[in-house]
Amino acid sequence: MEFSEVIRRRRMVRHFTDQPLAGEVVEKILASALRAPSAGFSQGWAFLALTSAQDRARFWQFTPDVPEAWPTTRDVPLIVIPLANKQAYLDRYAEDDKGWEDRAEARWPAPYWFIDTGMATLMMLLSAVDEGLGALFFGITPENLDGVKQEYGIPAEYAPLGAILIGYRAEDAPVLGSAATRARRGADEVIHHGHWGGKK
Ligand SMILES: Cc1cc2nc3c(=O)[nH]c(=O)nc-3n(C[C@H](O)[C@H](O)[C@H](O)COP(=O)(O)O)c2cc1C
Repeated sequence: MEFSEVIRRRRMVRHFTDQPLAGEVVEKILASALRAPSAGFSQGWAFLALTSAQDRARFWQFTPDVPEAWPTTRDVPLIVIPLANKQAYLDRYAEDDKGWEDRAEARWPAPYWFIDTGMATLMMLLSAVDEGLGALFFGITPENLDGVKQEYGIPAEYAPLGAILIGYRAEDAPVLGSAATRARRGADEVIHHGHWGGKK
């Protein structure tokens, strides 16, 4: 698929079939995350991939609202939980070439551990489209984060960003969620050439 087409077609999908994914497709999508950029090449990320029916079924206790709202999300063959490791960044930037030996979090007004893992997440969302699939990213509420970590043995230093569902989209998949009620903001509104508002 043309890259421009991948970008155009990427939408959050909330209606899936239960058609399984080939193992190579799963591996390809996961591998795309590793091609994301990362600050200082820290790569302070990890990805929990849930492919077996048992592993996936145990996940829904932490985000019951999603299958309640969109029942076929329960059928998706792949759930990925992207994880960010702040300490990996603090340690990487304490190395000689960066020199932030104080490991101060104040140096990070935009926390790169979340940015990088978010970029890796987008890589997987786009790869899913390229494979003819649909995907949904959604959040996990704060009170359920520890439960997810315990259930799957995720080390303390890794913070889940949310979850990605990946599978075949149902034929009649309509646009749902916030995008169904809000318009995409236009280039005139959000892009500022040269000076905010275009004036000087
Ligand atoms: C960081 C982030 C968190 C999101 N969380 C949720 C969520 O919890 N539930 C949900 O249904 N959609 C969630 N979405 C999807 C957005 O609603 C969706 O991307 C937006 O409405 C634009 O629609 P589109 O992605 O189909 O273009 C999230 C998206 C992002 C980037």
